Amino acid sequence: MTNRFWRLDAHPHGNDFASAFSLQNEDVPTAGPGQVVIKNDYLSMDAGTRMWITPRTDGYQPPLPLGSKMVGLCLGRITQSQAEGFAVGDLVRCFGQWADYAVVSPAESGLMKLDEDVADVRQHFGALGMNAWTAWAGLVEVAKIQPGETVLISAAAGATGSLACQIARNLGCKVIGIAGGPDKCRFLVEELGVDLAIDYKSDDVEAELAKVEGGINAYFDNVGGPILDAVLPNMAHYGRIALCGLVATYDKDNATAGPARFDQILMRRLTISGFFIPDFLERGTDFLPQLRKWLDEGKLVMHFDETKGLEHTLDAYSRMLTGRNIGKVVVDVRT
Ligand SMILES: NC(=O)c1ccc[n+]([C@@H]2O[C@H](COP(=O)([O-])OP(=O)(O)OC[C@H]3O[C@@H](n4cnc5c(N)ncnc54)[C@H](OP(=O)(O)O)[C@@H]3O)[C@@H](O)[C@H]2O)c1
Repeated sequence: MTNRFWRLDAHPHGNDFASAFSLQNEDVPTAGPGQVVIKNDYLSMDAGTRMWITPRTDGYQPPLPLGSKMVGLCLGRITQSQAEGFAVGDLVRCFGQWADYAVVSPAESGLMKLDEDVADVRQHFGALGMNAWTAWAGLVEVAKIQPGETVLISAAAGATGSLACQIARNLGCKVIGIAGGPDKCRFLVEELGVDLAIDYKSDDVEAELAKVEGGINAYFDNVGGPILDAVLPNMAHYGRIALCGLVATYDKDNATAGPARFDQILMRRLTISGFFIPDFLERGTDFLPQLRKWLDEGKLVMHFDETKGLEHTLDAYSRMLTGRNIGKVVVDVRT
């Protein structure tokens, strides 16, 4: 029996992943003491992982060493267990490897047993997954949104953003989404019930936001870069910004360039807080009952963008990072 896995051979330039990764073969790994082996069913493509494969050492976690198996969120069933509390056959999610089989230790990987009573198990990457936890934590715990407020979300048609739009809407906010292209903007308004969608590729974002009466009370920022500069002068006084991600800069050398409109933080008395979902992992199960209720009521929907086959993982990864996705990008690696 063979295990195929993606190995990081070099730091990618831009979105050229084919030159940076190679698909390797090995024998199926065995679980060491305290470990489990998982037969992966699905891999989650997450924008934040783009930072782990750069050489930068000042990120929120150390870079993945060259020659390593690529790490990412996996969902599947345990086939071997030497870890207390986990049994063969358990449906689990964790930070594992882009591979047919992942081998992990529970504590280091955030290994979590999943509810089997879900019509589509991919929802553990969707409405019940890390992107949903991130959206909830950023909006409720960090930006502290209140009913009736105007909430702005960037990368709004992606996995995290589309869930953030719906959570803000469900909590009684007026929601504005920023996304790239008319199809995504239509999706935001027609399928997610967003009040206003701005196409940053063709609209003047700053001018569109200037028309918003009362300004933006809370901004869930997935992007950073020029969009953040367009947002800052249009925040309401005492507005809050939950800085979730900087996808506009992950593949750029000038990733450390700050916001050009830094002055507006003082002028508008803004609060900006970065947050990182692993800091909320213990709390994630507190968010789940509400997310599950909304999922069952049809108030939290996840659009999946699925690629089949481990061998096509790099296509899926690139789709997500270049914005060719609507919703959550997953790879079905069942064989
Ligand atoms: N803080 C945390 O703990 C945490 C956890 C999860 C995710 N995140 C962050 O959340 C963000 C979204 O991640 P995701 O995994 O859910 O991916 P995603 O939103 O499903 O996909 C990434 C999206 O980013 C947008 N994008 C790419 N380049 C852009 C650019 N230069 N300017 C504006 N938008 C751009 C694309 O949409 P368009 O077509 O609209 O450009 C693309 O669909 C990332 O910044 C990620 O790091 C943070």
